[in-house]
Amino acid sequence: MSKAAHPDKRTKHGQFITLEGVEGAGKSSQIDCIRTLIESAGHEVITTREPGGTKLAEAIRALLLDGDDMPAMTELLLMFAARSSHVEERIRPAIESGQWVICDRFVDASYAYQGAGRGIDAQVVNALEGMTLKGLAPDLTLIFDLPVEVGFERTRLRGQQNRFDHEETAFMNRIRDAYKYRAAKHPERYRVIDASAPMKDVSALVEKEIAGLINNAK
Ligand code: TYD
Repeated sequence: MSKAAHPDKRTKHGQFITLEGVEGAGKSSQIDCIRTLIESAGHEVITTREPGGTKLAEAIRALLLDGDDMPAMTELLLMFAARSSHVEERIRPAIESGQWVICDRFVDASYAYQGAGRGIDAQVVNALEGMTLKGLAPDLTLIFDLPVEVGFERTRLRGQQNRFDHEETAFMNRIRDAYKYRAAKHPERYRVIDASAPMKDVSALVEKEIAGLINNAK
């Protein structure tokens, strides 16, 4: 008998949440709080990041972030090579087994950084997205938005910088605009969070969005 005849036996899929933003927007510090909220609602959660998330994808991450400069297309293809491993081996199995997945950056970063930032046509990114994700999309994407100068100052103070932290302001402004453009086009999936606000206000906004998702998933 087909699976559809036993809806009671089907595992309810987990929700997929991604966090995005310009450098230094503070998204990583929100992850633990999001995880706690979801776990308190009784769901299993995994947290992960891109580029990375599997052994292979983490090896590609090292090439991307700490290696030498590379052609923009090489950078894009490596992002998607890492993503393919991450989606197939980790994200999709987790969601299908009912776990919720919180991912620090995902495909929107490729549109923003390699597309708007490096100047690769969005249609190229879109074609790779189709082949790699095969319909998988986040249920909620939080975009942590703030002026790029403020973000750069934060990453400078934090000390740990990667290849992208050395880009100029114009590059990062294109990325900021691309995120906002994508959010405006699909308001049902994206929420723009003012990350220049005090930390407690940012956390309150994040909590409200996650609470909404938890309620909808009931
Ligand atoms: P990370 O140190 O995790 O930075 P952040 O804390 O800002 O997320 O490095 C990830 C970097 O990779 C970040 O600078 C954005 C970049 N990136 C892309 O350029 N394209 C992508 O598709 C992804 C996932 C990340």
